[in-house]
Amino acid sequence: MSAHGTPIPMTSSKCGPLTGVAEVPGDKSISHRSLILGAMAVGETRISGLLEGDDVLDTARAMRAFGAEVIEHGNGEWSVFGVGVGGFCEPDNVIDCGNSGTGVRLIMGAMATSPITATFSGDASLNSRPMARVTDPLALFGTVAVGRDGGRLPMTIVGARAPVPVRYVVPVPSAQVKSAVLLAGLNAPGQTVVIEKEATRDHTERMLAGFGAEISTEVTDEGRVITLTGQPELKPQVIAVPRDPSSAAFPVCAALITQGSNVLVPGIGLNPTRAGLFTTLREMGADLTFENERIEGGEPCADLRARYSPDMVGIEVPPARAASMIDEYPVLSVVAAFARGDTVMRGVKELRVKESDRIDAMAVGLRANGIAVEDGPDWWIVTGAGMGGVAGGATVESHLDHRIAMSFMILGMGAENPVTLDDGNPITTSFPVFEPLMAQLGAKMERAEG
Ligand code: S3P
Repeated sequence: MSAHGTPIPMTSSKCGPLTGVAEVPGDKSISHRSLILGAMAVGETRISGLLEGDDVLDTARAMRAFGAEVIEHGNGEWSVFGVGVGGFCEPDNVIDCGNSGTGVRLIMGAMATSPITATFSGDASLNSRPMARVTDPLALFGTVAVGRDGGRLPMTIVGARAPVPVRYVVPVPSAQVKSAVLLAGLNAPGQTVVIEKEATRDHTERMLAGFGAEISTEVTDEGRVITLTGQPELKPQVIAVPRDPSSAAFPVCAALITQGSNVLVPGIGLNPTRAGLFTTLREMGADLTFENERIEGGEPCADLRARYSPDMVGIEVPPARAASMIDEYPVLSVVAAFARGDTVMRGVKELRVKESDRIDAMAVGLRANGIAVEDGPDWWIVTGAGMGGVAGGATVESHLDHRIAMSFMILGMGAENPVTLDDGNPITTSFPVFEPLMAQLGAKMERAEG
């Protein structure tokens, strides 16, 4: 039920130094999982720091529809009274997952091995995304899915009445697919095994262990072999959601490209399966440091300090790092525009099936703003123009994609001429306080309507 209503055009202009502290919201991946696993536990899970963006609010509504009691206390504090593994009831109505691929794919997995039927839908972006990557492995449990042509939403899932455990090699690097299979495996008897060739974010594995499931990961020649024992009783948890590294990326990258900036972004989750952008930026010559490195809620965390970095250079991003920074390529391409030389990004086919085709959306918008970009099916190269060399001045499209929208707003902060976005609505899916937070650091962003 994302608020993609009347378009909100926005303009971002070159600004002075960005300074201060940027307290970005809670991690989106961990927020979804807190609600879903809380709904599958028996008793009250308490969550603090939940991301209250549209994507996560849609998941909260969905968990209510499946029978869990979900209570908002205010200030990011939530309670979920779960119904236990296999305890979901059949929703009365269509489950609207708005813009969220993570929400819909994880929820499909969570209900797929219960004897209930549910129909899922979303906005125009979500309804165009591929779901067969999730429904194919769910069929192995005995689940039936009926969707539109090409395995697209709206789609009805008929849960397996007598689920069997599965062994599944994930064919694409996708934490959503891995997680859907693991969540389905919760209500199947015996051991469900998921094998991934490339490591993707491992929040589901960590959190399942925290909720008391028997789960282990072994690194073998086949890849990461994850074994889950089905039908556990999940124990409710107290969860402090760390701040989202994918949201931290925006103030960090803005600071790197605006003269004189010095921004502290505290309490950022630095799980190695998520932190690839920060390694890449440092290799490009970014003045980015980690302070107060610590463990919080089982996840590594640190305070990030980003300073203006006028001498960044383009690099070849190792394809093996792609999964650990998959959501950050759009904003990396903006930093690359202000570096000198080519930034080469390969092995990133998955970017073409996100909330938008992110290679195409960024390539078209960057070119319109004077930056040379070449692209192919699973690669793209941005030729940096250096600080002071990015013309800007164009209007770009957000394509119902929050990360595209925010990336172009960051571009405008360092470009010579303002950058205009056709619609800033999607930003609230993951970063509802983006505008006030960036304004408080010193950014100049304006909504076009009166
Ligand atoms: C997510 C996994 C990634 C990522 C998305 C969140 C998750 O998607 O792009 O924003 O929370 O599991 P894929 O699984 O499609 O790579």
